[in-house]
Amino acid sequence: MIKKKILVTGAAGFIGSKICSELLKKKYTVIGCDDFSSGLKKNVIKGIKFLNIDLSNKKKISILPKNIDYIFHLAGQSSGEKSFEDPINDLNRNFITTYNLIDFAKKNFIKNFFYASSMSVYGNSVSKANINANCKPLSYYGLHKKLSEDYIIKNSNNFNFIIFRIFNVYGPGQDLLNEKQGMVSIYLASLLKKSKIVVKGSLNRFRDLIYIDDVVEIWIEALKNKKMQNRIINLGTGQKIKVIKMLEILKKLHVKKSKIIIKKNTPGDQHGIYSDKSLLKFIYKRKFINTKEGFKKFYNWAKKLN
Ligand SMILES: NC(=O)c1ccc[n+]([C@@H]2O[C@H](COP(=O)([O-])OP(=O)(O)OC[C@H]3O[C@@H](n4cnc5c(N)ncnc54)[C@H](O)[C@@H]3O)[C@@H](O)[C@H]2O)c1
Repeated sequence: MIKKKILVTGAAGFIGSKICSELLKKKYTVIGCDDFSSGLKKNVIKGIKFLNIDLSNKKKISILPKNIDYIFHLAGQSSGEKSFEDPINDLNRNFITTYNLIDFAKKNFIKNFFYASSMSVYGNSVSKANINANCKPLSYYGLHKKLSEDYIIKNSNNFNFIIFRIFNVYGPGQDLLNEKQGMVSIYLASLLKKSKIVVKGSLNRFRDLIYIDDVVEIWIEALKNKKMQNRIINLGTGQKIKVIKMLEILKKLHVKKSKIIIKKNTPGDQHGIYSDKSLLKFIYKRKFINTKEGFKKFYNWAKKLN
C-alpha cells in the first residue's frame, strides 16, 4: 500500500519534530519545513525531506512539493508574551503562514489540513473551556490563532480540516533555553540552573498540562479517525492543575533546596483555563500520562542535559 505524503510545518520545533519522528516510524513519507526562527537544526529528524523556508513569504511556498495528502500546520510564533513585543511578526508567523498554505492547498487540491491552534483563543471568557464557548483572546498570539481558525473554516469546502486547540504541552525535547514559552519548561529550567523558580503571576493560576507523547499520538490518530474530521478539538487532558501544585511536584523531584520568587504577570496571561474534554473522550478513548509521571520523565531528561 502506498503510504500518504505529509507536509509538517514547524518541523524544527518542539511538537513538529516529534510528530515527524512518529510519522517516519509509521512509514509515512514526511516533508518538513521550518525557517529556524525559533526551531533548532538538531531537531530536524533524519530521514525526512527538509526545506528551509519562511512560510510567510508567498513566493517561497511555491517550492513546496505539490502532491501532498495532508498538511500538518504547526509553524508559528508560539509565545503569548512575545506577541506583545512584535505583533506584526506574530501576525506573519501565525496568520500569514496559514493564509499562504491554504492558498497553496486550494491550488494543488490538497484534501486535508490540520492546524495547531491554541487554548489562548478563549482568553478569560471561560475556565472550563468548551469549544462552543465565546472566544475573547487576550494576546495578539491568541487573536492571530483565532483569525487562522476562522480562515480555515471559511475555506473548508475545499478540504477536510481539524483545528486542535492545544493546551499547555510539556516534555522531553522542549527548548529549555526559551524563557518565554512553556510554563513547565521555564520553571524546570530555572530550577535546574539556579535552584530557584521565578513565577510571573499568581500561584493560584491554573492550567491543563498535556504530555508531548499524548499530543503526538492524537495528531497521528487523526489520520485514521473519521470522527475527528472537520471539527475544532480541545487538545487537553481535562485535568485542572494550579501553578502551586506544579511547583510542589517539581520541588519534590529536585533534591536540592529551592525557592520561589513571585513577580508581576506577563501581558495577556490567562488566569485559569482547562479543557472540557467531553468531545475528545467521545472521539478518542485514551488514558493520558498523569502529571507526576510526566514531570518525572521531563525532569530526568532535562537533568541529563545539564
Ligand atoms: N507548545 C505548546 O504548549 C503549544 C500550545 C498551544 C499551541 N501550540 C502551537 O503549536 C505549534 C507548535 O508549537 P511548539 O511548541 O512546537 O513551538 P516551536 O516554537 O517549538 O515550533 C514552531 C516552529 O515554527 C517555526 N516557524 C515559525 N515561523 C515560521 C515561518 N514563517 N516559516 C517556517 N517556519 C516557521 C519555528 O522556527 C519553530 O521551529 C505552534 O503553532 C504553537 O503556537 C503550542
